[in-house]
Amino acid sequence: MKQYKIAVIPGDGIGPEVMREAVRVLERVSELDGSFGFEFTTYPWGCKYYLENGKMMPDDGIGILKDYDAILLGAVGYPGVPDHISLRDLLLKIRHDFDEYVNLRPVKLLKGAPCPLKDVEPADVDMIFVRENSEGEYSGSGAWLYPDSPQEVVIQNGVFSRKGCERVIRYAYELARKEKKSLTSVSKGNALNYSMVFWDRVFEEVGRDYPDVKTYKLLVDAASMFMVKDPARFGVVVTSNLFGDILTDLGAAIAGGMGLAAGANLNPERTYPSMFEPIHGSAPDIAGRGIANPLASIWAASQLLDFFGYEDWGKKIIDAIERMLVERRNLTPDQGGTATTEECGKALTELLQ
Ligand code: NAD
Ligand code: IPM
Ligand code: MN
Repeated sequence: MKQYKIAVIPGDGIGPEVMREAVRVLERVSELDGSFGFEFTTYPWGCKYYLENGKMMPDDGIGILKDYDAILLGAVGYPGVPDHISLRDLLLKIRHDFDEYVNLRPVKLLKGAPCPLKDVEPADVDMIFVRENSEGEYSGSGAWLYPDSPQEVVIQNGVFSRKGCERVIRYAYELARKEKKSLTSVSKGNALNYSMVFWDRVFEEVGRDYPDVKTYKLLVDAASMFMVKDPARFGVVVTSNLFGDILTDLGAAIAGGMGLAAGANLNPERTYPSMFEPIHGSAPDIAGRGIANPLASIWAASQLLDFFGYEDWGKKIIDAIERMLVERRNLTPDQGGTATTEECGKALTELLQ
């Protein structure tokens, strides 16, 4: 029987609450299937760990994670530890050091999920974001000069390498070809005269290998407007790290809310483990009450199954989420229900066969 070793980093706030349910679902899937199993190892890294140890994870944290087949992550960040420390030293470090350069974020409105847009059918909101996930605006390059003086200057550099742009754009073209969807590149060449002009050029260059893929180019401001006014125009979308971050929270808002939005941080070459997570944060406003929606984390678990080649199970999970939304049973308060996180997760588990 194939055994997968999974590192679980529940993290902070609602992270541990929702992660338990994702693990429950994966355990159930392996039980039902019988041909593969999971061995989960949980690491208590995060803000509490930081307050006790002065670091977000052990010095050899990356070395510890390296030999796992995948990582499941809940959420990182909590009041009491500056966000730029907690996130850069754990979540962003893993994405970067494991070269998880593709952040795959479906923006898909399931039947029964709430949508704030007028005259929109579920089929109209069905996009897949391919967010660059290793460099760009998140490179961490910059300087803070003459702090606390009248001459104070801060510089935050965007780093767009040819290799970094080409590989993520190529991934998006391949995905669009495979899914028979259009591909939209979102950039901002009218203002960012180096990085985004370069991005647009690479998008065109790589596109020469994909004459069969229908492409569009949008400026990020217009793209955000069209996501609200005409979401049906989008299929696969490829964009930079920061633009992808912002647009996928907008995507979550039009596709059922943060409680339903998942993302896979992929190292497509499989040299390093990939990481699967809900895209929401630690939600300090509801943490500890057992009411967080676990469906985003469960969706991320379905992405993990897809990545390991069990797409049939991945789809069964999405179908089960949809069924719960349509039947309006065992939903958490963000979806208008009264169920706890655990009741929601257990109900989903019971729908799987
Ligand atoms: P957030 O996503 O934690 O919360 C935004 C809003 O969405 C809150 O009202 C919250 O209650 C709600 N929400 C989020 N997830 C939910 C769920 N599963 N069920 C029901 N409601 C849910 O964003 P924030 O408040 O901006 O950030 C809080 C902390 O999380 C910060 O420290 C931030 O840096 C961090 N953060 C971490 C990640 C991550 O680990 N991937 C992502 C985003 C933010
Ligand atoms: C996300 C989060 C992270 C990001 C933060 C917490 C650093 O918002 O995964 O979308 O910006 O990538
Ligand atoms: Mn985000």
